[in-house]
Amino acid sequence: MAIISDDEGLEKRAKRNPIVKPETIEYDNTFENSIRPKDFDSYIGQTALKETLKIILEAAKRRGKPLDHMLFYGPPGLGKTTIAGVIASQMGVEIRITSAPSLERPRDIIGILMSLKGGEILFIDEIHRLNKVAEEILYPAMEDFTLDMTTGKSQTAKTLRVPLPKFTLIGATTKAGELSSPLRDRFGMIHRLEFYTVEELAKVVERTAKILEIDITKDGAEAIAKRSRGTPRIANRLVKRVSDFAIVKYDGKIDGRVADESLDILKIDEFGLDNTDRALLSLIIDKYDGGPVGIETIAAALSEDVRTIEDVCEPYLLQAGLLQRTPRGRKVSPEGFRHLGRKMPSEQTRLFSFDD
Ligand code: ADE
Repeated sequence: MAIISDDEGLEKRAKRNPIVKPETIEYDNTFENSIRPKDFDSYIGQTALKETLKIILEAAKRRGKPLDHMLFYGPPGLGKTTIAGVIASQMGVEIRITSAPSLERPRDIIGILMSLKGGEILFIDEIHRLNKVAEEILYPAMEDFTLDMTTGKSQTAKTLRVPLPKFTLIGATTKAGELSSPLRDRFGMIHRLEFYTVEELAKVVERTAKILEIDITKDGAEAIAKRSRGTPRIANRLVKRVSDFAIVKYDGKIDGRVADESLDILKIDEFGLDNTDRALLSLIIDKYDGGPVGIETIAAALSEDVRTIEDVCEPYLLQAGLLQRTPRGRKVSPEGFRHLGRKMPSEQTRLFSFDD
């Protein structure tokens, strides 16, 4: 499997197909990319998904047919791109990675579709942000593996049906609800990725530490896992940060104490909350009596955009039970008050609160 998102791949692709501009594929030569598992055994967690995928992949191989289109959804950092890479690797095919915001013009998506080879996987991240025109180009491409193109103008216009190789589209989104139903209906499999347990994250941490060649104890891995908000991307980032501390301030080995002290310095608390999360909860408590308050108001007060709050901060705060979503806005839960060491406003005050 080759992930065509490196410089060489882009150059080659741009030469092969001049319609595709290199920048339509995102560069992803990051640390995250270098530690991505390539097979089901090294992909930790998401057990139900892995079991289903193993069957689907085996069936497709035996039939000699490409895989059905798949949609993965869930909060960021849970491994949607990673599992797509594992699928490609297990099928022995290439994966083209792009994201909906970079498919702005029709020719962006057309260029990519035309450059695909049979069996290849096209991965579109943030697929809920695909524009209408790109979506309509995708419908026949997904359903019949054809591209319907119009040439000429008004009366002389002709529709051209261009056959495409049979490919598999893997879409990823944090917001499945924002996908139009015609697009959603064209996926043969739709799966929600779940937050990871502490045990699963501890395994992710141990695996990453091994790749980074840093010694880590069970306690050290668990301490990092507990503060990783159920998210392997965060766990991996924290391993790297803590290993910096271990090398510079300690004896190069991560144990429970090194992990806890380093994460305290980094201001990641025992729930994994960072300064922004705590600022969000404190704002609702201090300025709005614990809520409810609208997301726009929160975003403006924190100078963050609504999308970052909705996609990055909120999913875990909701899952951890620190924040609640109500029809009238966000509320800090009793657990949220306790976590910040605050007292709940008394029932009496709340009954007559002007903010309610
Ligand atoms: N890195 C990111 N996600 C992972 C996973 N699910 N298993 C192992 N390493 C990972």
